[in-house]
Amino acid sequence: MLYRKLIHYSIFIILSQLFNIIIVYGQEYIPGSRIKHTAVFVKPELKIYYIGGNNPDNLKQNPESDIFYLDIINTTKNFFSSWVNLKSQGVKLPHTFSHTANIGGANQDSVYIIGGAHWNENNTNFLYRFDTKTNELSVPVIEGKAPQSRIEMNSVSNEGKIYIFGGRTYTLNESVSIYVNQFDILDTINLNWQVGSLVNSPVALSGYTATLVNGIIYYIGGRSQQYVFSPMTEIFTYDIIGNKWSLKKATTADIETMPGSRTGHSAVSFDGKIFVYGGSYFNGDTSYDMPAKKTFVMLDTVNLVWSIPPLNDTNVPELAYHTATLLADTSAMILTFGNLMSVPIKSDNLIYLFYLDDPNFRWYKITPPPILLPKPSDTSSTPTSTETSSPDKLVIVSVSVGLMKMDKEIYLSPST
Ligand SMILES: *[C@@H]1O[C@H](CO)[C@@H](O)[C@H](O)[C@H]1NC(C)=O
Ligand SMILES: *[C@@H]1O[C@H](CO)[C@@H](O)[C@H](O)[C@H]1NC(C)=O
Ligand SMILES: *[C@@H]1O[C@H](CO)[C@@H](O)[C@H](O)[C@H]1NC(C)=O
Ligand SMILES: *[C@@H]1O[C@H](CO)[C@@H](O)[C@H](O)[C@H]1NC(C)=O
Repeated sequence: MLYRKLIHYSIFIILSQLFNIIIVYGQEYIPGSRIKHTAVFVKPELKIYYIGGNNPDNLKQNPESDIFYLDIINTTKNFFSSWVNLKSQGVKLPHTFSHTANIGGANQDSVYIIGGAHWNENNTNFLYRFDTKTNELSVPVIEGKAPQSRIEMNSVSNEGKIYIFGGRTYTLNESVSIYVNQFDILDTINLNWQVGSLVNSPVALSGYTATLVNGIIYYIGGRSQQYVFSPMTEIFTYDIIGNKWSLKKATTADIETMPGSRTGHSAVSFDGKIFVYGGSYFNGDTSYDMPAKKTFVMLDTVNLVWSIPPLNDTNVPELAYHTATLLADTSAMILTFGNLMSVPIKSDNLIYLFYLDDPNFRWYKITPPPILLPKPSDTSSTPTSTETSSPDKLVIVSVSVGLMKMDKEIYLSPST
């Protein structure tokens, strides 16, 4: 055992040297800004896959989508991460945006890329499967009637089934877009399409978030028509086992903390709460989109009360059309890309890291490359310093990213 570890150790030293050289000579990939992409966390590999979207600064015809992942390296003290480009490794996904993507397959290691719009209007295929083990992109054969494609749906994956509600048709002139009242279930194990119940469902909804907490999907925000936003006091839920929709009232202890309606926001669930971040609001009278009122809010799913996380630094970025990913088994929420909604609206390719169990709700802005994601020193006691966010430390630690890569292999596959 020790002997095997030693062999591993020396191999990894060599590999890590190589890795360092690659980093030093600037071969690393830094993805540009984007909006309306998706992020899918593949837990066993500690990778977040980023798929498609548009670069708002470069809207010209682009035949292929970006597809890349954030490789997360877990050490005792920090998470390190690096971007890995899959497009340059031959993964050719036709340019896709405003789609949804989720994990599926018997081993939960395939990413299903569903719906959305393509730049190439001749491409009528709206379902792709990306196998994270082989990096193979394919068009899966699914039994049953494939639903019409639509944009701005969000999805939940549970026990091999992906639940997709609503959305709207893609049109260049948004005022003629049709908001869809449809509930589709993609069974990624038996490979068939199923039709979900619409009894007591929302009439239509697009640009919402769908978040699974204890078998219940919570539908938050979004629109049912171009200028008809869902109030944040109205939460539709769908009980997967009971196959039952309900409309519930959400409240707030202080009217001042009631979050504003929004679309293009994100949501993650942690510790029985749903953390909703950012989004955009507009109506027929505003000539530009505004940041949603109350950027970062949380909904307690036990009593459906909205509140505001007690942020250490309340000057959080007002993002929309970004993605949020919770690293499973941790309290780390990773926000990336999207638009910064402060006027003039700009797109962003930074990473923001929030620890949802930090009593001080400290958060970090992380500039690549290479990327260090600090772990809070001890979340159970009052943190004593913010050393992990010091720029000097970032530089020093970044030099040894190659060595950290080695740690990941040893932690995650000690018996191979
Ligand atoms: C990181 O590694 C530690 C052990 O070193 C483990 O307890 C923890 O669950 C890991 N975190 C993730 C997100 O894999
Ligand atoms: C779509 O098909 C039409 C007709 O064949 C063709 O003229 C057009 O160039 C195609 N568009 C793209 C983006 O390939
Ligand atoms: C969009 O469609 C609406 C409704 O048909 C129409 O009134 C409007 O002029 C269209 N806008 C543009 C820019 O074509
Ligand atoms: C955030 O917390 C740290 C200590 O944890 C403190 O030094 C810093 O001043 C705080 N920042 C703000 C804006 O309150």
